[in-house]
Amino acid sequence: MKKNWLWWKHGVIYQIYPRSFYDSNGDGIGDIKGIIKKLDYLADLGVDGIWTSPINQSPMYDFGYDISDYYKIDPLFGTDKDFDTLIKEAHKRNIRIILDLVLNHSSHEHQWFKESASSPDNPKKDWYVWHDGIKGKPPNNWLGMFGGKAWEWSPIRRQFYLHSFLKEQPDLNWRNRELREAVYEMIRFWLDKGVDGFRLDVINFLLKDPQFRSNSFAFGPNPRPYDLQNHLHDRNQPDNHDIMKELRKVTDSYPDRMLVGEVYAPFPDPLLSAEYLGNGKDELHLAFNFAIIHEKKWHARVYYSYLHNWYKSLPKDGWPCIVLSNHDQSRSRARFGPGKQGLLRSKVAAAFLLTVKGTPFIYYGEEIGMDDGKIKKDQIRDPVGKKYWPFNKGRDPERTPMLWSGEKNAGFTCGVPWLPVNEDWEHTNVEIQNNDPLSLLNFYKSLLTLRKEKKSLMQGEWLPLNEGKENYLLYERKWEDESLLILLNFDKKEQKVTLPAQDWKILLSTAKRERTHHSAYIFPEAYEVIIMEKNKE
Ligand code: NOJ
Repeated sequence: MKKNWLWWKHGVIYQIYPRSFYDSNGDGIGDIKGIIKKLDYLADLGVDGIWTSPINQSPMYDFGYDISDYYKIDPLFGTDKDFDTLIKEAHKRNIRIILDLVLNHSSHEHQWFKESASSPDNPKKDWYVWHDGIKGKPPNNWLGMFGGKAWEWSPIRRQFYLHSFLKEQPDLNWRNRELREAVYEMIRFWLDKGVDGFRLDVINFLLKDPQFRSNSFAFGPNPRPYDLQNHLHDRNQPDNHDIMKELRKVTDSYPDRMLVGEVYAPFPDPLLSAEYLGNGKDELHLAFNFAIIHEKKWHARVYYSYLHNWYKSLPKDGWPCIVLSNHDQSRSRARFGPGKQGLLRSKVAAAFLLTVKGTPFIYYGEEIGMDDGKIKKDQIRDPVGKKYWPFNKGRDPERTPMLWSGEKNAGFTCGVPWLPVNEDWEHTNVEIQNNDPLSLLNFYKSLLTLRKEKKSLMQGEWLPLNEGKENYLLYERKWEDESLLILLNFDKKEQKVTLPAQDWKILLSTAKRERTHHSAYIFPEAYEVIIMEKNKE
């Protein structure tokens, strides 16, 4: 193993939405065997870890984010043995496995909830958040993010239970010590199996105000009632951090493992995300900052500010991670636009993702420039889309099947795909891009190869040489005596850029260029990416 190299810090992670990655058995839904079949593709791409959205047993009201047995793999995705094989085969290729852990809530079909709901005297009575209510009504104004009140009446217990999402997703009570210990035991079970890390779902939601105070009104990014509250009392409670410390201890009792947290806020806040890293050593290893995912504006200044704000928010020993897309937000390609321009912008964004400081997360399909799919009303599967159509079309567009080839259903399945395959599949797919040296996919591969060769890209400092006002970014990455200069032209026009020295070796560029450059000026073409190193001779 390379010295000082930590897979979760210096490697690259790839997010798989298992339903949509590759279907091995023709039922139209991606599965674990499908992931195993595509491990060589991932190894060839050059990623160091994969994070799979939930694959545990689930009635799938929220497509796996409602777990009914944390110890089992859902039969839709395969068997427990298939998962063991996945770990083994991935590890053979030096690819780590990150599981998605949904700890704020379980499914209402989980045995724990069934017991808890069965009677107020059950030993697990306090494993979920129960309340008598006030005069037959919920105790406060809390709302479910997916619509309606956050409280549901249980006629058996004659009490309300809390659900921050669907009513089929009751919130676990993290104030209960036994519940915590049961969760930690389950985490150890997966770590014992060889799982390398966990992505922690809505980790800032775990604890709730013990006095159950109502939230106040706030302005939100959209008219969804949930976002019109200031979630002072049902998210981000200060004692959440005690739990982060406990989770870190459990994880760190195994070598080389990692926790990455989803910190949800309607207006993403780097400071809030950074808080979940504690002092950088005692809470989560990584936390997402989604600010750039929410940013529709394409301008170098915007990307500069995102980084600047993110880096300055981190604790001294904290490490950033960078993400452009995930299964909850419109794909990055949809922000960059269609056609040639969208593709060129995708290359600039790829270079940004893979050359700034932090652990990059690639969302499946991003490497081929997959766009959001077009979903008709009767094709909607996501409960959010079902509830809020048409003002919010839900999350199906960013979850459509991976585009593998020019075969039927883009080679994703020989059955009927659970969501329609994107319309442009004949032109945008892995097979075509593999054979095109100038494709986005091959550009990703070159960047990943270069990252592996250059410590400055993996571990070095990020030293900006401008702030993006000119619509390009110029920055240095430095590690010991290695120093790379990265130039990203966000503009559709050629630019004139002054370089800090005269003699350069061009390591990589998206336009045709000589291997050496002798001038303190360079003229990047429209949307050109140039990575160079000072000529030492
Ligand atoms: C965040 C997940 O990313 C999302 O897909 C899910 O619906 C909610 N948490 C609830 O678990």
